[in-house]
Parts: sequence; structure tokens; C-alpha cells
Amino acid sequence: MKKSDLDQVLAIEKGSFLMPWLRSHFLNEFHREYSVQLVAEAKHKIIGYLICWFEADAMHIANLAIHPEWRRQGIAHRLIQKLIKDQQWASLVWLEVRPSNYAARLLYKKMGFSEKGIREKYYVDEGEDAILMVKWLHFNGKG
Ligand SMILES: CC(C)(COP(=O)(O)OP(=O)(O)OC[C@H]1O[C@@H](n2cnc3c(N)ncnc32)[C@H](O)[C@@H]1OP(=O)(O)O)[C@@H](O)C(=O)NCCC(=O)NCCS
Repeated sequence: MKKSDLDQVLAIEKGSFLMPWLRSHFLNEFHREYSVQLVAEAKHKIIGYLICWFEADAMHIANLAIHPEWRRQGIAHRLIQKLIKDQQWASLVWLEVRPSNYAARLLYKKMGFSEKGIREKYYVDEGEDAILMVKWLHFNGKG
């Protein structure tokens, strides 16, 4: 992700979330050593993105969204696959997801994540819980 991608990223973000990240949130990511920002492009347009934070031996997917016209075409799957392939030091990858977000939960389950717990009233907008999902990685012989 580059600064010049942000107008397109923000349009997808606003169309995807009840509590969208602001431009300043994305800009902050560029200065964080522990953050990686991936984009998916088609015909020179941004069609999706993923933000991940490195935390000790874990990767935390902090944001992921795909342009509505490009959903169900394997883009999110490929972004997560690329993240995992490029970061073979990690033992696990985890994230929070709303119980009501069936599409995302199905995507993560299909990719081998399992639901490991609940963070109560995690989302301040509607007080919805978050489901904690984890995928253990096996490249490095751990776990
Ligand atoms: C969730 C989201 C990222 C999925 O992106 P995507 O590129 O459409 O997902 P993929 O095409 O890679 O889907 C892979 C698999 O996940 C499951 N899946 C994804 N979306 C689904 C849906 N709407 N209904 C049922 N299953 C779905 C399917 O098993 C799918 O495989 P299939 O199409 O072969 O059946 C996308 O819907 C999105 O941007 N939603 C809004 C933002 C969001 O919720 N982000 C995640 C926050 S935790």
C-alpha cells in the first residue's frame, strides 16, 4: 500500500465497515515497524487490502476488505495466503471478527482458522462481541 492508494482504500473501507478506519489510521501504519500493508490490484485499481501487525511470534490481521464488485473471487484468500507465505517466521495468525459477519467467518474457516474465544462487547458501535480466530502455522516445525 502506498499513500497514493489511500483514496481508493478509504472508499472500500467506508463501504465495508460500520466503524471505518480514517485516513490518519492508514497513514499511521506506514510508520509502524511492526505493520505490513498489502493491496490487491486489478487493471491498476485497488480492489482489496490487508493490514497485519507483527506481535512476537504472531501475526494479527487488523484490517481486511475487498471491493464489493470483486468479492467471492478469491481475493481475500489470496491476500491472506501471500501474507502467510511471505512471513514464515510466524507461529500463528489471529484476528477478531463479528459473529454477524458470516462471509468473513466462512472465509477464515475455509483457510484453517478456528474460533478460540470471545471478547465480550468488543465493538463499541453496537456492543457486539468479537470472535477470536486463530490459525497455527507449521512451516517452521513449531506447533
Ligand atoms: C469478508 C471478505 C473480506 C471476503 O473477501 P472475498 O475476497 O470475497 O473472499 P474470497 O472470495 O477469498 O472467499 C473465499 C471463501 O470464503 C467464503 N466466503 C467468502 N465470502 C462469502 C459469502 N459472502 N458467503 C459465503 N461464503 C463466503 C467462501 O467459502 C469462499 O470460497 P468460495 O467462493 O469458493 O465458496 C469480504 O466479503 C469483505 O471485504 N467484507 C467486508 C469487510 C469485512 O468484513 N472484512 C473482514 C473483517 S474481519
